[in-house]
Amino acid sequence: MGRLDDKVALVTGAARGQGAAAARRFVAEGAKVILADVLDDEGKTLADELGDRACFRHLDVGDEDDWADAVADDRFGPITVLVNNAGILHFSPLVDTKLADYERVIRVNQTGCFLGMRAVAPGMIAANQGSIINVSSIEGLKAAQLVIAYTASKFAIRGMTKVAAMELGEHGVRVNSVHPGMIDTQMLPTAFGGVEIDTSRIGKKVALRRTGQADEIANLVLFLASDESSYCTGAEFVADGGATTTHALSF
Ligand SMILES: NC(=O)c1ccc[n+]([C@@H]2O[C@H](COP(=O)([O-])OP(=O)(O)OC[C@H]3O[C@@H](n4cnc5c(N)ncnc54)[C@H](O)[C@@H]3O)[C@@H](O)[C@H]2O)c1
Repeated sequence: MGRLDDKVALVTGAARGQGAAAARRFVAEGAKVILADVLDDEGKTLADELGDRACFRHLDVGDEDDWADAVADDRFGPITVLVNNAGILHFSPLVDTKLADYERVIRVNQTGCFLGMRAVAPGMIAANQGSIINVSSIEGLKAAQLVIAYTASKFAIRGMTKVAAMELGEHGVRVNSVHPGMIDTQMLPTAFGGVEIDTSRIGKKVALRRTGQADEIANLVLFLASDESSYCTGAEFVADGGATTTHALSF
């Protein structure tokens, strides 16, 4: 028996990185999984590899119509698990941040999460069950320089998660946020225009003295998607190797 038998999950940003790791784990645990992304080739290749219980859908999380089409597609039945994982990162000092860059980040990370929750909620309410997992960050808990838009979006996700948990709890729908620390994916190199970054030095700063792997976040997301987390809602789940456990005066 799988831990996600009978679940139908939609994972955004599933073509690579943490979304891909969650999709793999979900299929292995018995779920049917819709992999959604704007990277069509990568997404289709992974869905094909995962077999009959996986399919790919082009879905731009900032597009209302794409969400309407996604929930109308009932080839696997109604969606019972949503992982709002798609995200982008932009580095710039506050005073140099262009409005276009700020709005680009908010559209994907924040508006995308809102649209996703709003799209799946009616079906979950009707089914009287559901789990929504919103991927925030340690930047939704604490502040660092050069990430004004990203931080705004990740704090917003944390707040929206709690509002949704309050509204949907009576309908059997749970909503939680996940807060990864530095995870070894393509997000950082993409934000730096394709330049590979050596994150090992930054990784050494946390209690576990290393960066995290996408599978380690997938394990947490799996727990929240499954009925094992049946009494968890509106909560913040941190997987950061200890990054937020210390303070600036630590030596
Ligand atoms: N990597 C980290 O260190 C880290 C830390 C904390 C939180 N996160 C968060 O984890 C999530 C996953 O990131 P990742 O590390 O796997 O990065 P990634 O860049 O490897 O993956 C992000 C995915 O989101 C997709 N995406 C981007 N814009 C989209 C859109 N408009 N619609 C649909 N999909 C879109 C990308 O195509 C990509 O497949 C993000 O929300 C990110 O903010 C990452």
